[in-house]
Amino acid sequence: MSRIEEALEKAAKLRGESTFEIPAKKTVHSIHKPPPMTTPGIKLTNQLLVTVNDPHTQAAEEYSKLKSVIVKLTQKGPFMNMLMVTSSIGSEGKSLTAVNLALSLAQEFDHTVLLVDADIRNPSLHRYLGIENSLGLTDCLIDGADVKDALIRTGVGKLSFLPAGRDVPNPAEVFTSKRMRDFFLEMKNRYHDRYIIIDTPPVLPFAETRSLSAIVDGIVLVAKEGLVTLHNIEETIECIKGTPMLGIVYNAAATEFHADRYHYSREGNV
Ligand SMILES: Nc1ncnc2c1ncn2[C@@H]1O[C@H](COP(=O)(O)OP(=O)(O)O)[C@@H](O)[C@H]1O
Ligand SMILES: [Mg+2]
Repeated sequence: MSRIEEALEKAAKLRGESTFEIPAKKTVHSIHKPPPMTTPGIKLTNQLLVTVNDPHTQAAEEYSKLKSVIVKLTQKGPFMNMLMVTSSIGSEGKSLTAVNLALSLAQEFDHTVLLVDADIRNPSLHRYLGIENSLGLTDCLIDGADVKDALIRTGVGKLSFLPAGRDVPNPAEVFTSKRMRDFFLEMKNRYHDRYIIIDTPPVLPFAETRSLSAIVDGIVLVAKEGLVTLHNIEETIECIKGTPMLGIVYNAAATEFHADRYHYSREGNV
């Protein structure tokens, strides 16, 4: 059993299950293609957005599989609509996974999706979407801005995006505040029929993601090959064990596929 399978089994045991879902395993491969049609202001030209820019690649296929697993797991009982994408440490691919998962869900015609950048320490989803970090989460939380005014329609299916908003000097306090909790619970109820995919800071260096984990319905944990240790993953699972772990995305992994059918590249080659 590989290290990642052991970690998955541990996650499954923590959920009180005897089996676990196979995680999506993906490596990004880029081919230059014209950008898709989008609403004004949004430029989905980033080649790492494979779900829209390279839909026939293996990487896009892996996100599609991830989406299918998520849809299955979140709809087997009462709809688990609010999901958080996190990782143990920084730069493991949370944001890239969150945006591709949201795009993939939104491209399925019956899934309305809201993507939220809650990594207010290091927001990056707006860059993937090719826009400025405008009115967003912190403005709603601190200044009482209406979330409806902050939402940006991406033009991909029914995907809307809530940016992180303005910089704040005290992200930990903002994140652990009752207002934050109330805000997300209100979002969960207001948008009860749509997926809300929340990009977050990593779990181990910051306390706030643990607070948010207690509010969401499920967690997708991203683990980047060669960056995070098994010990880190175990520690992370321990920190967020109160909430169902839907699976672990083993990101930027080397693939075992055959080069005569597909051409794969590891992260450094993308
Ligand atoms: N599978 C991947 N293939 C290529 N580049 C990746 C992959 N996953 C992450 N990256 C790159 O690694 C960096 C960190 O990814 P990001 O999603 O921003 O991480 P995080 O949100 O966890 O800090 C970014 O430059 C991103 O484009
Ligand atoms: Mg990020």
